[in-house]
Amino acid sequence: MEKTPDDYFDGLFPPDPMLAKVKEEIQKRGMPDISVAPGYGRLLTLLTASSGAKRALEIGALAGYSGICIARGLPEDGRLTSLELRPDYAELALANLAAAGYGDRAESIVGDALGSLSRLEEEGRRFDLIFIDADKENYLNYLERAIRLAHPGAVIAADNTLLRGRTLNSDKQGPAVLAVREFNRVIATDPRLLSAHLPAYDGLALAMVR
Ligand code: SAH
Ligand code: DHB
Ligand code: MG
Repeated sequence: MEKTPDDYFDGLFPPDPMLAKVKEEIQKRGMPDISVAPGYGRLLTLLTASSGAKRALEIGALAGYSGICIARGLPEDGRLTSLELRPDYAELALANLAAAGYGDRAESIVGDALGSLSRLEEEGRRFDLIFIDADKENYLNYLERAIRLAHPGAVIAADNTLLRGRTLNSDKQGPAVLAVREFNRVIATDPRLLSAHLPAYDGLALAMVR
């Protein structure tokens, strides 16, 4: 099969043993292999570092792949807060972050993300970078919460805006597809945001809260 542009660019980068180990753990445990695409992982590191983010929030941890990518861009006194529904995933993500050398910078909150986000808001916690990557039906809810939790100038990123092509296929009308279409439209039109949509891999939405 011919190489895709994604494969071509991925092939230019040196091996990344830390992230390879996370993928091996995912395989070994029979977890879904749905970590963020490698190029978007690199972009998360770059965005975290270039925005000078000190407080990062991730919605959906899985095994810690994207968490490690974000933590790599944080300063030494930075902090990643990771929201995850499943205790076993949250524990593995934290263990992988610790193995990557970011144990002191990572915090995990187990439970349904909407509840965790309410609690963070009540506590007055605010963030400089927020990565949305959990259940797609709630993307618009997560975006509204993310905007409320964002410092001015904060960066919001969201994975899987193409839903493996389902977003573009008008025969597909399931709840996740409808929610992501609406989410994508809000990203593109909301005056509170400066935004871009990236079509590589499974799609990534990017926004800065004005
Ligand atoms: N960001 C991860 C991948 C996340 S996969 C990475 O790139 O490495 C999506 C994750 O969201 C799964 O771990 C799943 O358990 C979690 N999730 C699904 N619904 C959730 C909810 N309602 N609240 C919190 N986490 C949820
Ligand atoms: C899928 C991929 C993801 O990155 C995700 O967060 C959820 C689901 C998927 O391909 O099914
Ligand atoms: Mg994803």
